[in-house]
Parts: sequence; C-alpha cells; structure tokens
Amino acid sequence: MDTGNGKSLVDGVQQLEGYRVRRRHNTRHRSPPLRATTVSPGNGARKDPTEDIFKKIDAHSKTHHVSAWEGTFRDYLPLVIQNPKLAQLAHARLYDMVRSYGVELDEHGNERYPFFARELFGIDEALAKVVEYLKAAAMGSDVGKRILLLYGPPSTGKSQLVILLKRGLEEYTLTDEGAVYAIADCPQHENPLHLIPHALRKAFLDEYGISIEGELCPICSLNLREKYARDIYDVPVKRIVLSEKERIGIGTFVPSDPKSQDISELVGSIDLATVGEYGSESDPRAYRFDGELNIANRGMIEFIEMLKADERFLYILLTLTQEKNIKTGRFSLIYADEFVIAHTNEAEFKEFLADKKSEALQDRMIMVRMPYNLKVSAEIKIYEKLLRQASLDTIHIAPHTLEVAALLAVLSRLEEPKMAGLTLVKKMRLYDGQEVEGFRQKDVKLIKASTEREGMDGISPRFVINRISSSLIRPNTRCINPIDVLRAIKDGFDTHGSFKREDREKFDNLIADVRREYDEIAKNDVQKAFFVSFEQEALTLLDNYLDNVEAYLDEKKLIDPITEEERAPDEKLMRSIEEKVKVPESGKDAFRNEIFRKVAMAQRRGERFDYTTHEKLKQAIEKQLFEERRNTIKLTVSTRNPDPEQLRKLNKVIDTLVRKEGYCAECANELLKYVSSLLAREK
Ligand SMILES: Nc1ncnc2c1ncn2[C@@H]1O[C@H](COP(=O)(O)OP(=O)(O)OP(=O)(O)O)[C@@H](O)[C@H]1O
Ligand SMILES: [Mg+2]
Ligand SMILES: [Zn+2]
Ligand SMILES: [Zn+2]
Repeated sequence: MDTGNGKSLVDGVQQLEGYRVRRRHNTRHRSPPLRATTVSPGNGARKDPTEDIFKKIDAHSKTHHVSAWEGTFRDYLPLVIQNPKLAQLAHARLYDMVRSYGVELDEHGNERYPFFARELFGIDEALAKVVEYLKAAAMGSDVGKRILLLYGPPSTGKSQLVILLKRGLEEYTLTDEGAVYAIADCPQHENPLHLIPHALRKAFLDEYGISIEGELCPICSLNLREKYARDIYDVPVKRIVLSEKERIGIGTFVPSDPKSQDISELVGSIDLATVGEYGSESDPRAYRFDGELNIANRGMIEFIEMLKADERFLYILLTLTQEKNIKTGRFSLIYADEFVIAHTNEAEFKEFLADKKSEALQDRMIMVRMPYNLKVSAEIKIYEKLLRQASLDTIHIAPHTLEVAALLAVLSRLEEPKMAGLTLVKKMRLYDGQEVEGFRQKDVKLIKASTEREGMDGISPRFVINRISSSLIRPNTRCINPIDVLRAIKDGFDTHGSFKREDREKFDNLIADVRREYDEIAKNDVQKAFFVSFEQEALTLLDNYLDNVEAYLDEKKLIDPITEEERAPDEKLMRSIEEKVKVPESGKDAFRNEIFRKVAMAQRRGERFDYTTHEKLKQAIEKQLFEERRNTIKLTVSTRNPDPEQLRKLNKVIDTLVRKEGYCAECANELLKYVSSLLAREK
C-alpha cells in the first residue's frame, strides 16, 4: 500500500521494529552496574529491595543515551550528505516521529496511528486530521505555513494531544532516526546548513538533493565574521536533544493579562546588563534571543488558549508561520522553522469566527475540531487511565461501574438520530462497533454525516471522574457500584452551575435509559452466577433448539428419544428463544438458516459448534434459560428468611460473582439485592 511518500506502510512498520529491537538489544548487553548495596556481608542471598529501581534507571539511561557528537561544520558536512534526513525541517520531523510508531488501518481503511494510542482513545478522526496536516506540511505544501488550531469543548484531550507530540518529539531526537544537529553557540540552535552561502545552495541541491532555506541568525552572522574569521568550516556544530524543560526546540506560550503581557516572552528582549558593553541596542550580543518562538526553532511551539492572547501576539505568530520569520528587536527578520499548534475552547472560537477583523488570521489557520469521544469502550479506557493517575485504587470499583458512567456520558453527547427505527441507544451501540438490528456498520458514516455538532456537547470525562472521585472519598466507602455512580453524577447535575434546566431534564431521561441498560446487565450477571452448571444447561437447551431447527429446515419430524414417537418441530420453543433477541417472524427462516450453516461448517471441520461465538444466539440461549428459571431465582433472592438450602445457594452465587466476575462481597450482595427488587417489580 502506498502512503504517498513513496514508502510503503510495511516499510514504516519494519523500520519501527528495527528501532525497537535495537533498543532492547542495547539494554540486554550492558554490563551490570557496580553498586555496593547489592553485597551485604553474610547475607548474600537476600534480594536488594532497591534493585528493581536501579535496573530500571540503568535501562532507561542506556536507551536514552545519545552519543554526544561535537565537531565543526567541516565534520558535519559529510554526515548530512550521507544522511539527508538530518536536514529535514520541523514538520517533517514530527510527521516521521508519529509514523515511527507504525501505521495501522482501521475497519474502514483509514490510517490510524499507534503513537497516540497510549494516551488518547476514540478520537481517531481528529487525530488523523492532525497527521494529515503534518504530512502535507512535511511534503512542503503551503499548509505548513498555517497555524494548526484545535478547538472543542473542555477536556476533549486537546492539551493531552500536544503533550504527546512534545514528549514524542523529545524521545525521537534521542534516537538515530530523529537526530538533530545545530550550530553549537547559536541561541536558536539553528540548522548548520545555513552556513552554506546562497550562491552555492543551488549546486548543493543538484548534487546532494538537499535543499536549504533560511539565513544565519544575527548572532551566528556576527560570530562567523568575528570569531571564526569568515571560515564556515570552523563553526562548531553539535548534536542536540529537543527538550521542553531545557527550552531547546520546544516552546509554550500561555497568555496572561493581554494589556500587560510583554512581547518579549515570544521574541526575546534587549539585555540591559550588556547593552552598555556593546554600545548599541542593535548589537546582537546585547539582545537575548530567548523568547518562546526563538527557542522553539527546529521543533514546535504550543500556544495555549490562543484566542485569549492579545492581537499583537497573534500577528507575530502569523508572520512566523507565513514567512517563517520572527521580527525581533532591531534586527532584520530572523528565520525560524517550527510547528505552531494552538488550542482554544469553542465559545472563544465562535466569537473569533464571527469577528470580521480576524479574517486575515482565520485564513492562515488550519482548524481541527476536537469533539468528545463517542465510543463507550474508548470512554471506559479514558476513565481507567484517569483513575490510575488519581491512584484511588484502595477502593473497589464494582464491575460495570465505569461502563455505566460511560454509557451515560456518551449518550449525553449524541444527537437525536434522524433515521427511522434508530434510537439513541442503538446509535450508541452502532458507534461502538456492535451489531444493531436493522443497521450495519457501514451506515455509521451516513448517520454521522447527518449530524450537526455531535460530540461538541455533553458530559466531559473530567466531570465523570470528579463525580466518581467524590463518591470514592466519602468516609467508610470500601466499594462503589454503578448505582452509586449514577447517583453521584445526578447530584453533580443538580449542583453544577453550568448545566441548563433543559439539559438537566434531558440528562434525567438519559439516566433512565442507562438504568434500563444496567438492569439487563445486572440480571445477566446474577443469572450467569446462579447456574454454576450453566454451561451444561445451556448446551442441552442449544441441542434441543438445533434439533428442532434442523427438522424445521428439512421439513421433517423429530423422534422423541423416550417414547420414540414422531412429533413436529417445536415452533413455540424456537420462537420463544428467537424472540429473546428480537428475531421477527418474517426473519426467522433467515436466522435459522444462518445458524444451521454455521453448525454445518463446524461439523465439516470436525468440531462441535460453539454457540458462544454467535453473539445473538448466545444471548438468546442465556435469556431463555433465565426465563425458565426465573421463579426459582426470584424466590431464592428475595426471600427474607432463606432456608438452609436457599442460603447455601445464595452463598454459592456470591462466591461465583467474586471468583469469576470481579465482584467483592459487598458489591455482590448489593447486586443481589438490586436484582431481587427488579424481579419483584416485574411480576
Ligand atoms: N479522547 C480521550 N482519550 C484519552 N484521554 C482523554 C480523552 N479526552 C480527554 N482525556 C483526558 O481527560 C483529561 C482532560 O483532557 P485535556 O486536559 O487534554 O483537555 P482539553 O481539551 O485540553 O480541555 P480544556 O479545554 O479544558 O483545556 C486529560 O487527562 C486527558 O488525558
Ligand atoms: Mg487544555
Ligand atoms: Zn544562529
Ligand atoms: Zn465491590
């Protein structure tokens, strides 16, 4: 598969593999570090408790060790000619970095990037747009001359995305593929190839295929003249590692009070301490090239809450992206090569779009919408991640708790479907890749196309996590369950100022929807636990169903195994099972045929048909079984004074829930209580 840059996807992946293997290789062959602490006299066998951390640190510093390289421009030239990648510009480096983690294709054939997958879930479309931008910019298109602006509601992962790119870039420049070299004494760590005089650049391109853009900065020009007597060969060059902390190649700008914030934060300032020494404000030595834009040269700059910044700042940014120049103090324009990524919330973004004055700016931005994730399974992963970070792991979280919160959050973000027969809950399942009656995965595109601003409203992951945390820290809490969380979220709506009344009503209805979903889940868990010999009973029921289906399809009679009498297929039983998963009367033949084909296929392979591989049939069998046993269960669960036999059964159920389903004794008991109240209400 061609990915547009002449390299195949497979190449990309192999490259990555090579990179990983090499790293591992390094760690394996290092010699053990010398440490006095490992030898404790007379007790050689005991393991040093700090050993693990030493190992980890050693391994880390080994894999993150960059061969320090220092030389002159004369030494550097052969390096870059041999490996033109060293001369690549900022956008291309970022693009390669993202791809160095591999590229995958999703079920619709879209490229997906594992690089983001460790931290960001369910927002692939927005991420793909960011990568698309990087790709176009890397190939030299004009989009590289625009600012990338992420906009969306709170906590959609905008900041997280930028953090990932920054950390990724830092790590990448530690590897051989991502190596960066710079003029050693340049405050902007500029590209050493700027030393090549203009007159020679065309020849350089023709000969080595490396194109050079950009001029030496004022400091480097001065140094070249005075320190190195105009001999470019003598200029020192070194390998650098981009680092936000050390302000090398990665900058961040946070707007504060627009009136008082000084432009020098972006473009540096006159050094009052030395201006006397050099006699003139236009002497570059009397200027500090330490603005965020200066230091971000070769890498990237993040512009937080961009639209809160004063216009003066925005116009500097524009010149930078448009002309690749920074206007600094009294100097002529200074070349800079950096990826500008900005973010803002939606309210400010809308205001900005409506403002005629900002049209010039708007033209020079690529805007990427960052909506909330709309997949329940991804939403659960987000919560798991956030809870891990909050280290609240001493308290038990009952099974399905995060799932129920995720159901509610995702539902709150969806727009009411316009298609006939599609409910909000069905749409949610469809988006999560599940089978839904009457619709297919390929309808998802169409459904999404008919939405206006789906994912731009609703409950944020942060809100959910705050509510979960607040119920976790209540005194004497050892375990929280789905009902606790729904309650906590509801309380949150009622007290949280930012929800409007109609929103709250809508959310109340959604909570009712989610309760219905959870009721099914809860009953299902109890029913499964009740039949410890469930497997066997299910198989018996399945065999019975399949025998009947076979006879029905062949238009034959069944022989009763005991009386050996012939009898017609049991239509009532078959329909009862099928109706559990909403197979309509008109669709029963198709359903039966499909099941039977699968059975026959398994037989041909010499296997027994595994009904659990067919999600619909599995559900149908389980529900049927549950219904048949409903009364036994109801009696056992809801009785106030269980007899010894009932007590034994109940304890066994709790035991199964704990051992197999991840419950603790507390939430298992709560579950039984809950389900018994459900059953009591039903009939
Ligand atoms: N789709 C997602 N996948 C994984 N984590 C997410 C996702 N969306 C949000 N988060 C997590 O939620 C938290 C808040 O996200 P983040 O701070 O990046 O939001 P933001 O879009 O910058 O919000 P704000 O507009 O309020 O600054 C982070 O910890 C982030 O990792
Ligand atoms: Mg943010
Ligand atoms: Zn310089
Ligand atoms: Zn529990």
